[in-house]
Amino acid sequence: MNPWTETAPILLTCPKGIPPWLSAEVRALGYPVLAEGEAACETEGSLGDTMRLNLHLRTAHRVLWRLAAFRAEDPQGLYAGVRALPWEEFLHERGEHAYLSVTATADTPSISDTRYVNRKTKDAIVDRFVDRCGLRPDSGPARDRAVVHVYWKGGEVHLYLDTSGEPLSRRGYRKIPLTAPMQETLAAAVILATGWNGRTSFVNPMCGSGTLAIEAALFAQGKAPGLLRSNYGFIHLKGFDPAAWRKVRAAAHAVQRETASRIVATDIDPQAVAAARQNARTAGVEAMIEFAACPFAATPIPERSGIVVLNPPYGERIGEQSRLTGLYREIGDFFKKRCGGYQGYLFTGNASLGKQVGLRTKRRITFYNGEIECRLMEYELYAGTRRKETAHGGA
Ligand SMILES: C[S@@+](CC[C@H](N)C(=O)[O-])C[C@H]1O[C@@H](n2cnc3c(N)ncnc32)[C@H](O)[C@@H]1O
Repeated sequence: MNPWTETAPILLTCPKGIPPWLSAEVRALGYPVLAEGEAACETEGSLGDTMRLNLHLRTAHRVLWRLAAFRAEDPQGLYAGVRALPWEEFLHERGEHAYLSVTATADTPSISDTRYVNRKTKDAIVDRFVDRCGLRPDSGPARDRAVVHVYWKGGEVHLYLDTSGEPLSRRGYRKIPLTAPMQETLAAAVILATGWNGRTSFVNPMCGSGTLAIEAALFAQGKAPGLLRSNYGFIHLKGFDPAAWRKVRAAAHAVQRETASRIVATDIDPQAVAAARQNARTAGVEAMIEFAACPFAATPIPERSGIVVLNPPYGERIGEQSRLTGLYREIGDFFKKRCGGYQGYLFTGNASLGKQVGLRTKRRITFYNGEIECRLMEYELYAGTRRKETAHGGA
């Protein structure tokens, strides 16, 4: 069997709440969605297909190609099942790629610490190599080369090659993170959930480190987020064909387009604006975003409508709530007075603060920022009351 052309199940993991948007992306790339879970979608394809999936998917964290499924009731069963697999066909035994890392999730009675699953799996793979080739690949926690993932639930073990390596949320452009940045994949899912077409205006007051604006610019350009990264797990597997990978990347470059969309990102904190600008530069989209340091209410609103998305602080610390109540009320005023004709969006992890906006929500979508349940609220902001102003005019 040649895994680079042979079809197998592929598990695409993502944060909770994101599977519907991930499924839509998978279908748009021409792959079937075989199942949708709480924090994953399943499709199928070859290792060759994982190159495209890793490159294009905006909302997935990891692209896991299933190597085998077997039953194991205890660590000895796991060891035997792993050792029986032809690892020498997938992993390098010598040279720069001969390093492997194992990750695991386990929900099975005989295991209380997943680190034990990692160790048992790694031992089985290395012992197989010693048997077959007399060589042992190095191993450790670094995810910058070959990564094997074990999913063990009850008596069922699924073994995957993690073709992403480092999670895909690490696009590589956020060199200067600030407090409470939004994960890149979550920002991409929020943009997809708004239904924005990438051609109208995208306004992002309270931009922080710029994640939403940067993801919007990548989306508007049709730029595959994976073009920003050069390292993936699949590069370190046997049979990887650099010429085929160059072709997949060239095809992704070829579909990029010019966009007339105006993307505006502002924040009251000049340091945040400087960081957002630097991050946008790293992502190659600085020229597409108009940055300004100002209170959110003074954000320049382009004449041509579109969407306005805010991710305000939501007060994880006690005592912050009362201060933020006023801020959320002002956001309601800003929406009403300055953003007529736009679709308004508020992303918050605090539902009661969200209510302070005081406008009727058209839609509420649940996301998770880590463990915090969050809502993306949509408001229809009717035109008419909006004050006329020049494209770069302040409040
Ligand atoms: C939760 S963070 C936004 C994080 C951002 N989505 C990211 O990915 O980095 C909230 C941001 O709101 C900004 N902010 C707070 N009050 C503001 C105000 N009155 N006007 C403008 N920005 C404000 C803060 O400086 C902070 O950068």
